[in-house]
Amino acid sequence: MDEAFDTDMDLPAHLTPPLAKGHLSVARLARYWYVVCTARDLGKRPIAITLLGTPLVVFRSAGGGVAALLDRCPHRNVPLSLGSVDKRTGVLACAYHGWRFGPDGRCVEVPGLIGEPSKAWQVPAYPAKEQDGLVWVYGSPDAPPATEPFSVSGGLGSGSTSVIREVEAESTLHAAIENALDVPHTAFLHKGLFRGGKKNRITALVSRYPDRVEIEYQGEPRPPGVVGKILSPSGGIVEHWDRFFLPSIAQVEYRLGSENHFLVTSMCTPVSDTHTKLFAVVTFRTRLPARWLKYVIEPFAQRIFRQDAEILAQQTRTIRRFGGEQFVSSELDLMGPHVWRLLKQAEQGSLPTEAQPVLKKVEFLA
Ligand code: FES
Ligand SMILES: [Fe+2]
Repeated sequence: MDEAFDTDMDLPAHLTPPLAKGHLSVARLARYWYVVCTARDLGKRPIAITLLGTPLVVFRSAGGGVAALLDRCPHRNVPLSLGSVDKRTGVLACAYHGWRFGPDGRCVEVPGLIGEPSKAWQVPAYPAKEQDGLVWVYGSPDAPPATEPFSVSGGLGSGSTSVIREVEAESTLHAAIENALDVPHTAFLHKGLFRGGKKNRITALVSRYPDRVEIEYQGEPRPPGVVGKILSPSGGIVEHWDRFFLPSIAQVEYRLGSENHFLVTSMCTPVSDTHTKLFAVVTFRTRLPARWLKYVIEPFAQRIFRQDAEILAQQTRTIRRFGGEQFVSSELDLMGPHVWRLLKQAEQGSLPTEAQPVLKKVEFLA
């Protein structure tokens, strides 16, 4: 959807003609599942979240289920997230007059009212599910989901360890996904932390499928120095894949020799057009003790996430000031344009039906 940013900035004359086109890479895909919080963060109290610009209340219903309703009491429009949940019945009571709502949004009781509550006093309910330690909500109310949430578990099999991390970015969903799957910025923005040093010729093989894009990188050397030696004393080559799955999942997979396997799956959630949350499930299997590795990697990961969040916020700020996006791309912008194309096709209901394996081969230095 092309959407104009409001701009009250007076632009210099030489900047006016090509600017203020008002384009923003936003596709609002409601008929998909999104992660709204971790299962651990959803306790006895209901919580307020925003999905696709819509305020929702998420709570634990009876029998271990989770529920999501529009965060607005139909009575006097107080946020239902201020209310409380009856643990036994899983019914949510509004904080103002105590109207009670079931996980399906039906009003089941009005304190003091003789007789049944009206069927019209209904709150829109969004399908919700707990899976892989995450709470998923379907972006469209009262519609039976056409799909299941993305399956994160089972990635690396036995002996692997998983951690879940949450980060926020002031950016469009598209910009956040592009950033998560963008190789060229890593040697520059994250210099010293990630890639860098001697450049190698790398081959990228791009494959496109009806619901995803995959890029395989060939020719990446083992990480230099001690790190590489500790991780993979037997040497071995690096295998690396980046993947995007509709509507909002960015996945990076690394294998180094036979002992090491890393899978980072970032479930991105469009809070609003320019605010994205990332729930990253990091799964790894290495010859090193998981506890030790977590301890060593965490500060680096935090720093990388901070650098990304900061640059994305600056990008959004600049786009806003100029009244819209105006991008140019080189051959190295491998993922972004494909992601955008799939998002647009999904929004228009015109997704391709055919797979296009190794659609494109690109060589570059990294
Ligand atoms: S506003 Fe919710 S019960 Fe009155
Ligand atoms: Fe980054």
